[in-house]
Amino acid sequence: MTTQSKRADQAVGVGSGQDRIETRATRVLGIRYPIIQGGLARIARAELAAAVSNAGGLGQIAMAGVATTPDLLRAEIRKAKAITSAPFAINFPLGHLKIDPLLEVVIEEGVAAVSLTRGDPRPAIARLAGSGIRVIVLVSGPEQAKKAEQAGADVVATVGYEGGGHLGLSDLTTFVGVPLVMDAVRIPVVAGGGIADGRGLAAALTLGADGVEVGTRFIAVREAFAHENYKAALLRAADTVIVKRTLRQPGRALANDWARDFLKAEASGTSREELLGMVGAEANERGVFHGDTQGSLLWAGQAAALIEDIPTAQEFVERMVAQARASLERVSAMAGMVRAA
Ligand SMILES: Cc1cc2nc3c(=O)[nH]c(=O)nc-3n(C[C@H](O)[C@H](O)[C@H](O)COP(=O)(O)O)c2cc1C
Repeated sequence: MTTQSKRADQAVGVGSGQDRIETRATRVLGIRYPIIQGGLARIARAELAAAVSNAGGLGQIAMAGVATTPDLLRAEIRKAKAITSAPFAINFPLGHLKIDPLLEVVIEEGVAAVSLTRGDPRPAIARLAGSGIRVIVLVSGPEQAKKAEQAGADVVATVGYEGGGHLGLSDLTTFVGVPLVMDAVRIPVVAGGGIADGRGLAAALTLGADGVEVGTRFIAVREAFAHENYKAALLRAADTVIVKRTLRQPGRALANDWARDFLKAEASGTSREELLGMVGAEANERGVFHGDTQGSLLWAGQAAALIEDIPTAQEFVERMVAQARASLERVSAMAGMVRAA
């Protein structure tokens, strides 16, 4: 047995009972199922985070577009605490705002975990040292993962090219990125990008990951703060595109009129300033808040194609767990048959 497969063996608690799937990530984060709801700018508010955590996953409140000041963050945290006593996290895109006052609030409120993305995580990790707050760092490949581990991250989440929203620059797919990151670090690894059902969860665990980060699928649940038109536009949506590549901030969005126009502008050499003006917050808000599904930037991953309905977060998590169990049992039985032959 290789070191890697030994680690994968240890990672998933076999026969861990109906009410949990135990992995290194669930132990570190104190959750029942290895399902992390991704930070979703403007969309992931207290109601969604608390619903996911109540269902046994790790819900997250997005700082971006939701909890941008200490007062707003505290209010959102308290709202979530009123709905759940389970652990939840706060997601921080770095390099935008002064983060220290926000981290103070997280520490004062005793939040279970934070996730850090899009920037150097070291100052934030240093600020949180000794607080007992778990730190998840989003990465897009093995080099970033090693740096996050060295900086003191408790968990890394690697998001592949299939994923929705802003992506790393590497273009690594989930199937390739996850094993590479697993080989690079010893801390728990969570797989994201393209995972929207129990088959994806089972596949990620089988690759050796300690859990999954799910973004796009959690937009199309009842508690998500997104316009119903956006949720409806995601159902079986097979076409997504990468926008903002020329700005070196690639992100995956639904292939609607807005995205096609933006790609044309990028291809025709439009200036950086003009492009940045086109992708400001307002372009996203027109869709998320006002339901204009053609004239707005609607972040979405390839996994939108797998979305068929708009359940509650709890219904979705239960379904994902049941489907993952069925997939893992099927594969275990196959492995048994191979051995017996
Ligand atoms: C609408 C949308 C907004 C997002 N906003 C954030 C964010 O604010 N912070 C963050 O870390 N990731 C953000 N992401 C990425 C997700 O948290 C997650 O890593 C990614 O969606 C996983 O891939 P999937 O969409 O295939 O599930 C966003 C993704 C989407 C679709």
